Amino acid sequence: MQHVAIFDTTLRDGEQAPGFSMNVKDKLLLARQLERLNVDVIEAGFPVASDGDFEAVRKIAEEIREVSVTGLARTNPGDIRRCWEALQGAAKPRIHTFLATSDIHLEHKLRVSRAEALDMAAAAVELARSLCDDVQFSAEDAGRSDREYLYRVVAAVIEAGATVINLPDTVGYCMPDEYGAMFAGLADVEGIEGVTVSTHTHDDLGLAVANSLAGVLNGARQIECAVNGIGERAGNAALEEVVMALHVRSGLLGFRTGVNTREIHRASQLLASVTGTDVQPNKAIVGRNAFAHEAGIHQDGVLKYAGTYEIMTPESVGVPSNRLVLGKHSGRHGLAARYRELGYELGEEDLARAYMLFTKLADRKGTVYDEDLLTIVNVGLPSVPRTYALKHFHLVGQADAVCAVTIGLEKEGVVYTESATGDGPVDAIVRAVNQIVGTNGRVLEYAAKSVTQGSDAVGEVFVKVDFGGRQAAGRAASTDLNIGAALSYVDAINRATWLASGDGVAVDPHAAVSDRDPGVVAGRQRAT
Ligand code: KIV
Ligand code: ZN
Repeated sequence: MQHVAIFDTTLRDGEQAPGFSMNVKDKLLLARQLERLNVDVIEAGFPVASDGDFEAVRKIAEEIREVSVTGLARTNPGDIRRCWEALQGAAKPRIHTFLATSDIHLEHKLRVSRAEALDMAAAAVELARSLCDDVQFSAEDAGRSDREYLYRVVAAVIEAGATVINLPDTVGYCMPDEYGAMFAGLADVEGIEGVTVSTHTHDDLGLAVANSLAGVLNGARQIECAVNGIGERAGNAALEEVVMALHVRSGLLGFRTGVNTREIHRASQLLASVTGTDVQPNKAIVGRNAFAHEAGIHQDGVLKYAGTYEIMTPESVGVPSNRLVLGKHSGRHGLAARYRELGYELGEEDLARAYMLFTKLADRKGTVYDEDLLTIVNVGLPSVPRTYALKHFHLVGQADAVCAVTIGLEKEGVVYTESATGDGPVDAIVRAVNQIVGTNGRVLEYAAKSVTQGSDAVGEVFVKVDFGGRQAAGRAASTDLNIGAALSYVDAINRATWLASGDGVAVDPHAAVSDRDPGVVAGRQRAT
């Protein structure tokens, strides 16, 4: 097995993409996760671009000790010196300098001749090498560069002291054979055996990962990539995809990386939460559906032997457990298994009833998620006794700051009142209600959405709560989302109390609830 280094550019090329900009704190959080992931190089930013980027590179260079840290610099001395300044504290610093080599860039962007560009590249590498032992040169738009000229530039920068040569397909234009051939052609360049050769691919034609692998098969031993495939335009090669392709097909390809694959899911989730941009559900490796099996025949197979439909385990990339997504093609087996995972062991009769409700729901909405299943066993049960009812609600504070709430719950004619503070309204509400009821309920999921239109819209709040291993869902609707949150949490408590008493019988949850109980929306109390 030969080692392929993983050069992560999430914090540089990735961060350049619209909607993905990160502040210093965000970048540090991600850099720590990239260190846990055990990538080989972290490209932390472009120090000359802004003071923030300089600071991010400086802080990451100071803190991250196990992984090489690099910053990007154009070929001018100012960029290179600024980059080196930012990298001062690094345990393993690398200066990454780049210059375009394609005629289209030289003529229209840089307005320099080929000879001038070659000299600029060599001079930049020489300066960088006088400062730092590890210097990477990238020939921007190598994919569209004249090969003979490209190889002359590569030879010149190697002579000037480059330790890593990167040939980017900057505009995602190359076909895998073509990109691979460019690397194969490096074999005749003088000094190439003494440097590491790298890929850097963009996904404009959806070929970034295929091109990275083609590069490796033709001599590259470093892949530049980004978590969740973020990057300029359509993005860079996705780290999780190149790593898992090399890992899963190591028998065929013969390469390994040092990446701790079990940290992949966490890295992906962290990036999504820091940038506020979710991963598309069908994204390879890290999408919500990447390990989801819907068709009954698939579910049956996976339950019998995961290898029937899984080429890698969810656990191998850090996804907590297999997720069966249920839809109209799913069978009873899959349904029972999912309920088991949610903490419900349904008997024959309950399963039959739940299955009947589930097929109706699946027909109507396609995919049935966990919260729907909880609704079937929870909301689908006849009038859950209202052990607790919300009587008083008073909240002080901002939505995103410390909040104080006073809540009064009535039980058997007596109103119990408690106050609590929390990080935001939901946290404060949960604490106050838990104090009254004497439980340690923990909100696993919280979702609020508008169900009517206009400024007086009614919002529906859904919570999924864990009560020491058993889950219960709660729903409520209100024009005030904070009251909605309190009502839905109390609803979950009432359900959990009732389920624990063991007298639940499922009924059709889709019967219009408001028909059964005026003043009730979406199955629960209405407060306006
Ligand atoms: O796409 C590209 O060419 C780059 C270089 C700066 C490495 O991002
Ligand atoms: Zn790029």
